[in-house]
Amino acid sequence: AIDPNFDTNREKVGTENGVAVWGPVEPPEKLGIHGTHVAVDYDICLADGACLENCPVDVFTWVDTPDHPVSEVKVEPTNEDQCIDCMLCVDICPVDAIDVDAS
Ligand code: SF4
Ligand code: F3S
Repeated sequence: AIDPNFDTNREKVGTENGVAVWGPVEPPEKLGIHGTHVAVDYDICLADGACLENCPVDVFTWVDTPDHPVSEVKVEPTNEDQCIDCMLCVDICPVDAIDVDAS
């Protein structure tokens, strides 16, 4: 599962699609965590899609991650500033790849 303390245990190494990326990152195998308020562990996400399909405010968009060992697409929390902290994505992800900081 995603580390809920990633923002203290990891370093921010850049941004992609306007979203913070928390390392370590070694593409294409290791992609880190994308997002801060809504965070997706790219090395755990297997592209189930339930988060994207069910988020009431369309926070997520698909991005291509060619040659990643787990899946070749992932969800980017592009609109994380729109999140209403409903926690649906956290509850529905089958591999616990998402953390939402509702505090
Ligand atoms: Fe969307 Fe709710 Fe997840 Fe926020 S917590 S990203 S509103 S599903
Ligand atoms: Fe990935 Fe989980 Fe969403 S596997 S696509 S973060 S439901």
